[in-house]
Amino acid sequence: MTTTDATAQQEAEQIVVKLLTQPPQDPYPWYARLRELDPIHRASIGDFWTLTRYDDISVAVKDKRFIRNFADMRRRNGRRVDSSRPFDRHQPIWFVWSNPPEFVPKRAVYGAAFSRSNVENLRPLMADFANELLDTAEESGQMEVVEDLSFGLTVRVIAHALGVPRENSQLLVDYARALSPTFDPLASEEVLDRVDAATVDLESYLHELIEEKRHKPGEDLLSQLIDAQRDGLLSEEELVANAALVFAAGLETTTHFIGNCVYSLLKNRDQWELFKTDPDGLVADGVEELLRYQSSVQADLPLRLAGEDIEIGGVTIPQGDGVLPFYGSANRDPDRYEDPDRLDITRKDVRTLGFGGGLHVCLGQFIARAETQVALVLLAKRFPNLHIQGDEPTWRPGVTNRTLTSLTVGLQ
Ligand code: HEM
Repeated sequence: MTTTDATAQQEAEQIVVKLLTQPPQDPYPWYARLRELDPIHRASIGDFWTLTRYDDISVAVKDKRFIRNFADMRRRNGRRVDSSRPFDRHQPIWFVWSNPPEFVPKRAVYGAAFSRSNVENLRPLMADFANELLDTAEESGQMEVVEDLSFGLTVRVIAHALGVPRENSQLLVDYARALSPTFDPLASEEVLDRVDAATVDLESYLHELIEEKRHKPGEDLLSQLIDAQRDGLLSEEELVANAALVFAAGLETTTHFIGNCVYSLLKNRDQWELFKTDPDGLVADGVEELLRYQSSVQADLPLRLAGEDIEIGGVTIPQGDGVLPFYGSANRDPDRYEDPDRLDITRKDVRTLGFGGGLHVCLGQFIARAETQVALVLLAKRFPNLHIQGDEPTWRPGVTNRTLTSLTVGLQ
């Protein structure tokens, strides 16, 4: 290694440590520097490689030689599995830990419910939910977008898709909120106690609900899962754990994506002015561009492990090492997108990595897109003068999620 290489490696390492331990308010210049210095970087703080270029990430997420391993994820988080704990019995049976060939039929059970055509049928209901929330906001003339619109809408939509009555959806929310901090390295005992308690409450409720639906099925995911259980495709424990996973995976991601979209459009006022001239016509490409420009998911945990030595972009990832894709960086890679830091809702040929890719591509991508499109169109039609109110919003510190602490807007 030359001195220049060593210096570049050292600076790259400092950037990775910064991104992982003290995430900056604006990560994009840091990603850009990392892409220049060492786009496939072996992080010294874990046996994984960070990927920052569009092409490398596109290839890696589709490469089936990368595998999932639950115990390994736990090892990296500094925790061993303790099967006396409720959450430690529940988490390993999420379908996301399995590998082909078992993975494919397991995921197909959920994929059918969240298919593009199923989701299209939900659009009128999504609009009703959103209008209801906007009616309430209209009375006060202002709104906190994240809580008053996107959170309310997301909870209603996913609870409905699952078949959980709205009045009981708080149990799902409590579980999702208890779950997030368990992915932090060295999660505290308090965090683990909280997720155990939320798991027990949610599981016991879902078992009751499943019993009801066995006698009176509906057109919802839980009823479909009960059929799949009857056909021997999964156990009741798997059914419950995976229903909980699906809700949790969709909650913060979609809630904050809608917030990020509204913020990005209002900060780039010319784009909002353009959007409101033809919301129905511009929304499909617009949301793809917003997923590229400001996704709520910037990176994955190092969940993909090399099942054998794998070459990516001229670098060999040794068997057993993990890769951590920075999707947020890939989406701003100048080798893939012209002028990548500019929001342009008419941009064509956006193939976002905001939903990952390959076998594990986001299960909820169609529902998340549809919900965001519905919300943005209604906002533009009902409140064309929408504007940010009060102090400049701030981003919560986070490596994987890019989320605003709050976003208050004036409606008129
Ligand atoms: C804008 C909102 C969303 C974003 C940005 C997002 C992003 C992502 C990303 C980046 C992945 C990782 C994909 C990979 O490893 O290749 C993922 C996986 C996943 N997402 Fe989403 N997601 C969103 C909404 C949702 C919703 C609404 C649901 C559920 C209804 C959902 C359920 C899942 C599940 C279950 C997985 C794991 C899939 C697997 O490993 O096979 N997501 N999502």
